[in-house]
This record gives sequence, C-alpha cells and structure tokens, in this order.
Amino acid sequence: MIKFQLGTHDVPENISQVVVITQKNNAQDYNLPIGITQKADKYITDKENGFITLYEKETIRLVAVFGKDEPDVTQDSEEIRLFGAALLKALQNEKVVEVQIKALNNAFSTCERNLFIEGMSLAQYRFDKYKKSKNESSLQTVYLDENAVVPGEIEALHNLVKSVSFAKDLVNEPLNYLNALQFSELAVKMGKECGFITEVLDKAKIEALKMGGLLGVNQGSDTPPTFNIFTHKPKDAINKQPLVLVGKGVMFDTGGYSLKTGDYMTDMKTDMAGAATVLATIMAVSLNKLPYYVIGLVPATDNKISANALVVDDIITISDGSTVEVQNTDAEGRLVLADALVYAKQFNPELVIDLATLTGAAAAVTGSFGTAMAGNCKSAMEDLKKSGDNVYERLMELPMWKEFEDLLKSEIADIKNIGGRVGGASTAAKFLEHFTDYDWIHLDIAGTASVKENKGYIQTGGTGVGVRLLYDYIESKIQSE
Ligand code: BES
Ligand code: MN
Ligand code: ZN
Repeated sequence: MIKFQLGTHDVPENISQVVVITQKNNAQDYNLPIGITQKADKYITDKENGFITLYEKETIRLVAVFGKDEPDVTQDSEEIRLFGAALLKALQNEKVVEVQIKALNNAFSTCERNLFIEGMSLAQYRFDKYKKSKNESSLQTVYLDENAVVPGEIEALHNLVKSVSFAKDLVNEPLNYLNALQFSELAVKMGKECGFITEVLDKAKIEALKMGGLLGVNQGSDTPPTFNIFTHKPKDAINKQPLVLVGKGVMFDTGGYSLKTGDYMTDMKTDMAGAATVLATIMAVSLNKLPYYVIGLVPATDNKISANALVVDDIITISDGSTVEVQNTDAEGRLVLADALVYAKQFNPELVIDLATLTGAAAAVTGSFGTAMAGNCKSAMEDLKKSGDNVYERLMELPMWKEFEDLLKSEIADIKNIGGRVGGASTAAKFLEHFTDYDWIHLDIAGTASVKENKGYIQTGGTGVGVRLLYDYIESKIQSE
C-alpha cells in the first residue's frame, strides 16, 4: 500500500512530481505557492469530469477540484473519493513512484482530506495473485504537508483500507482455494495478527448444537461446515451488550438440487461476501482498537450436490427447534443464517446486523448502487442509513408487510424457505426475522458484493461492501457517547 508521509523535511529535493490541488472558489488566486503558479501557464479544465483539471509542464502537475454550486454532502464526499481514485490512476498510468501533494489544506476541509486519501488508497487494490505477470503498483510514497492530516487518522484509515482490501481478497478467492475449513484457518490467523479471538466450531460441535440449517445445506458437500465466532471485547468498551454481526458464508452456491442453470452459477464463489465483510470489519475494529464490544458469527459451508444432498420437500430442524419445509435448495443462505441468528441470542445483543448475498430479487432492485435493508428497529436503521450516506454505501429499505410473512406459511412445517413469485427480498428477510427476538437489521448485499467492472475505487470482483459502512456506524456510536 502507498505510504503517506507527513511533513516537508523528508521530501527528496529532486522530487519529480508535484501535485497541487485547489478549489474552484480559489481558482482566481489558486492560493498556490508563487513558484508553481509561475511555471504553470495554463489550466485545462475537464468539463466532462466536472472537477478534475490536469496540467503538466516540465515537472509540475497541477490538479484542480471545482466546487459545486449546490452542495450535497453525500455526493460531494463521493466525488472527492473518486477524485482521489482518479488521481491515483493518472499517477499510475505514468508510472510515478513518488509524488508530493501540495496545498491540500487550501482545497479541502479536514474531513475532505481524509476522503481524498481514502479514495486514493482504496483505488490501489488489485487481485493478481494467480497471474504470472503482476502489474505492480508504481506509486509508493505520497508526501503531504505537515498539517494535511492528523497522523493518527491516517494510520486508522490505512487499517480500514487494509481491511476492505482483505474482504475483497476473500470474495475473489475461488472455492478451490477458500472452502469453509480454509476460511476458518485464515480467520484464526487474522485473529492472532490483529488482536481478536476466533473460535471455530467443527462439525461435531455443530451437530451437538443441532444446527439443522447449516448441516442441511452442507449435506451435499465433501467439506465439513464450520461455525466461526470472532470476538472483539476491549476493556474500555462503551457498550455492555455486544453488537453482533452475522455473515452468510456460503463458500460456493451451486443451488443444490435446485441447480443454478445457464450462467447463474458464475461468480457464486462470491456467496460468502457477508462472511468476508464480518471478518474484515472485526479486523478493522480490532486493528484500530475501537472501544466497542463486537462479535462476528459466520456459518460456513458450500452448497453442492451429492447422493446425500438435501432435496426439495425435505424438512429440516433449525437449532431453535423450528422446522423448515425446504421448497428450494437454492434458498440456502437463509437456512445457514437461521442457525446463526439463533446462536446470537445467547449474547443478549444490543443489535444484530446480518449481511448476506441473499436474493437476486434484492439485486434487481438496487443494482450495484446500493444495498437492500430490512429490520425491526427503526432508530438503528436510521443510524445505519446515515452511515451508508457517509461512506457512499447507500441503503434502501425493503417493505416488511405482514403479507410477506404469510407467504412463508407451510402446511406441514413451521415455515417454508421460499415465498413464491413476489417480493423475493422481503420474504427472505421475513424468513430471517422468524429467528430473531432482539433488535435486528438485515442487509441483502446480493447487488453490491461484487461488480463486473472497474469504477473509481471499486475494482471488478469483490467490493468489500459493508466494511466501511459498519466501521462508520460503530465509530459514530462511540462518538455519540
Ligand atoms: N446466493 C443467491 C443469491 C444471489 C443471486 C446472490 C445473484 C448474488 C447474485 C441465493 O442463495 C439464491 O440462490 N437465492 C435465490 C432464492 C430463490 C430460490 C428464492 C434467488 O435469488 O434466486
Ligand atoms: Mn442459492
Ligand atoms: Zn446463495
């Protein structure tokens, strides 16, 4: 990752690349050091991008950010992240190794400077470990003015971006490199490295706990399931009851006997994105030693076929004793999540948030532009929504009308695992709600967990969605204390 260095005394004297950033409002005087304004004789405005001006002459590169007439904090913040990402790309295209960024303080407020660095840092990610020729990132050091950012904040941001990148890695790993057992091994290792506790329940323990959802989905697999518990419980935690994060860990989803056809199975290695986000969030919180008690729960298995696999019409029993009539083996996420939601009860949580690539129906509503949300506690949902706007991982609320619950009624069991043709994202959420008796929010990240093309600071493949969102949520909880 790029190193951001503060203070002018360390800048090499012959540094070849200098970036100056300025605002439209300052465009007349540019507030630039005199030597630089004299060298730069022309500013090229890029009307299409609206906010980036690139000028290059000799060794001076000049970039301007143009202010908006009507401020919209969410959009403007995102533009600054994207600006950071665009600048990174421009520098990488020209194989710049080190660069000095000047006048950041003139262009941006303290918060905005962090956004800019966040965008630049997030944009560096690439997943090329399976490629022979690696396209090494050229940019190594960015020199910033002494007071451009608070040193502690830049360190915290670094850890957060590192965690987001880790989530992206996990999502991008295929099943033959990351099955349930390998996920658990990695989680133990990360716990040791970052300072949280990982406990892994093996198949025998899962059987003893009668987790019929997780075991049912796992029936067709050669790889045993794992149930993973991550604990970050600092002494100075401001909350007594934990925030519990639950992540869907379907390491690959073939659909089971309700087999996915055509190209619907492609990319189903990403069906553990919820798990990746939960692990990465605990990692970020623990690296940055946030004074907040957080627990992560991940039921992990793949969803495959064999002679032993679940078939449609089977009835399974979740760990709370609820029976489920399985009407579609491809609605497996909710089965493994049900056991995890039941398990969460013992912690007397202040709030449970689950993240799952749960339904194509949610993805059809949000696309990759936002995440579908449901839940039973309005105020926490409002808070989370604010965090969504802060980090540009916007949330859209699904209807939770009681009629959706009625669609899950079974003739012969307590509940069915599919609701029928309408409201697929809502019926899935209603299914999960059945297993909750605490404050709870569900995030269906089917649309946002992975994307098909590079855009700004998001790369093709896993996006790490939810990590910055949850981190911001926890941080605002701490700040409002
Ligand atoms: N993992 C899928 C949902 C999904 C689809 C995630 C596309 C990401 C992209 C989930 O397990 C699934 O198969 N859901 C079914 C539910 C249906 C059988 C009720 C779906 O959405 O079609
Ligand atoms: Mn499925
Ligand atoms: Zn799935």
